[in-house]
Amino acid sequence: MEKIKKAVIPAAGLGTRFLPITKNSPKEMLPLVDKPAIQYVVEEAVASGIDDLIIITGRGKRAIEDHFDKAFELEWVLKAKNDSAALEEIERISRLADIHYIRQKEPLGLGHAILCAKKHIGDDAFAVLLGDDIVFSDVPCTKQLIGQYEKSKASIIAVEHVPPDRIESYGVVKYSGAGTGDEHMYRVDDLVEKPKREEAPSDLGILGRYILTPEIFDCLEQTKPGVGDEIQLTDALRLLNNEQEIYAYEFYGKRYDLGNKLEWLKTTFDVALSRADFKEELLRHIKKAIEAIE
Ligand code: G1P
Repeated sequence: MEKIKKAVIPAAGLGTRFLPITKNSPKEMLPLVDKPAIQYVVEEAVASGIDDLIIITGRGKRAIEDHFDKAFELEWVLKAKNDSAALEEIERISRLADIHYIRQKEPLGLGHAILCAKKHIGDDAFAVLLGDDIVFSDVPCTKQLIGQYEKSKASIIAVEHVPPDRIESYGVVKYSGAGTGDEHMYRVDDLVEKPKREEAPSDLGILGRYILTPEIFDCLEQTKPGVGDEIQLTDALRLLNNEQEIYAYEFYGKRYDLGNKLEWLKTTFDVALSRADFKEELLRHIKKAIEAIE
């Protein structure tokens, strides 16, 4: 059976919602405690059986390449210090996967970023993982989508129910029951990128995990700039939906949207609380902070 072996991780965005930190540092390198956001995404792809990754970068994104590269000097220092735990972790990161980098030369949008990977992907279906979304789940979200792809052989988009006040931030699907025998799978009838609240066709918002058939590239080539004057993946999926069935899958797990400062802070907080080395002291600190306000 044809396996999903390749994934595209767009990381070329300018990160304007995170200024000033993103003036000279990639948004994808923002840490959740001590691990950059993009490492969570790469690890999810690897845990889903994908070993060939294409990260779409751009100007000012060198820190991403350095992070996944071998760090000789650091390894040498850690060896001299006999810090084997840190050494093992540093070496593991550089061996995670076969990572290729393609530069998007102009900020023309998410759809255009994915189109930059066309030659490397070729004629195979592939995964897309957006770094703004981190998913914590027993089975990695991308692996869940691959499982569905293996049954349907169609493009699959991960979705979740989104509260009305957040819907304008996402792509939204219009759907119907697919008769797939799986109550989490829906047939996509239409898609809209960042609709106005009153125009949203449902409350199922797209999160940044997709399995796409290679025909998406022809659709991306035909897609005109849409919301924000950018070439949108959601608009290309609309075109693809005219030719092929597309499914939406309500994944199992907890998603964090790192798309803005407050959500990033909340995610950092939850990740810290999930760690035994920080939990107690952090809770004590927050209790004190609350008492000081009251
Ligand atoms: C992108 C997609 C949107 C999707 C979202 C998920 O938007 O265009 O359809 O719902 O990611 O995070 P962005 O957040 O890049 O504006």
